[in-house]
Amino acid sequence: MAPGNEKLNQKQLVQISAAARLIRQGGIIAFPTETVYGLGADATNTAAVQKVYDIKQRPTDHPLIVHIGHIAQLNYWAREIPGSARLLARHFWPGPLTLILKRSPHIPDCVTGGRDTVGIRLPAHPVALKLLDIIGPDKAIAAPSANLYGKLSPTTAAHVRTTLGNKIDLILDGGACSVGLESTIIGFDDDAVFLLRPGGVPVSAIESVLNMPVISHKNKIPAIPVPGALPSHYAPTTPLQLFHLSELVQTAKKLAAQNLHLAVITWSGIEPPQFNTPHIQHICMSQDPVLYGQHLYAVLHQYDQAGYDYILMETPSALPAWLAITDRLQRASHTHL
Ligand code: TXA
Ligand code: MG
Repeated sequence: MAPGNEKLNQKQLVQISAAARLIRQGGIIAFPTETVYGLGADATNTAAVQKVYDIKQRPTDHPLIVHIGHIAQLNYWAREIPGSARLLARHFWPGPLTLILKRSPHIPDCVTGGRDTVGIRLPAHPVALKLLDIIGPDKAIAAPSANLYGKLSPTTAAHVRTTLGNKIDLILDGGACSVGLESTIIGFDDDAVFLLRPGGVPVSAIESVLNMPVISHKNKIPAIPVPGALPSHYAPTTPLQLFHLSELVQTAKKLAAQNLHLAVITWSGIEPPQFNTPHIQHICMSQDPVLYGQHLYAVLHQYDQAGYDYILMETPSALPAWLAITDRLQRASHTHL
């Protein structure tokens, strides 16, 4: 069944209608997408969009992604859309892909931090799609992830409630996000296609649809700025550090001997006996990057709230399918022990 056509129950429909009303009145709501929960406002309402920046404590030059409900609305919100962007939209929407396109006059300055481009995404979650359907084609939802700036992204309604619950008008609960990592962000320049943020759609899938290479933003000509791509981001409050397994075992042993309490997260399936002490809570995650990505933020939220001194993680696999996971964990692990 196509995303969006799944049955929503009566209670959900009532809540979604209330959320749509709030959006139309300039309110701020949290809503589920397949990637992470978003903090949404009417993209055409400057005051409401400003509230999103305020609540998130995010600098206003870090633009917001505009969420639309139907692919046909692309022409209303963007202009001069490259053929490759249309191809990707047809192929991956609804889904975890954001396209950076020239913005149309319908997008106010505050959404894009004054720049001439806008990030657009059609999310694959029945609650988000119903909400977008109700607010109508002349509205869209500007939404960053529903977390404080720089912190862990939320993948459940409870994650949102804990940090932003008292600051927003309504939280729509759509269960745990199925992808669990943010969307892949793609930019366009002349005939070239750039990866601005790895995410839910693997780069290999994009390359195979376009039949051309996607250029990593690290190698790009400086034409496409990547606001928000700070070295430290997506971070828990507890210091987090990455290690290869052998080094992880040594570090955990040393810190546990100092009476420190550690959360240890591995994925390679090896369970060293040194992890079996009262000072260490060890979890081995999936070796499948899709499943690993789905649970990553939830595991980090759980350990972050449990009061450990450190979170020690096994360095993710270097295979391309782990790119988004590696990106998030490198940014989360800025604090060195
Ligand atoms: O999966 C997602 O993309 C989630 C859900 C809620 O859709 N949203 C999300 O939004 O991750 P946010 O704001 O946390 O991250 C969006 C990123 C930021 O790094 C922002 O700077 C970048 O997209 N971005 C947005 N518009 C842009 C533009 N016009 N040019 C370059 N980067 C842009
Ligand atoms: Mg974010």
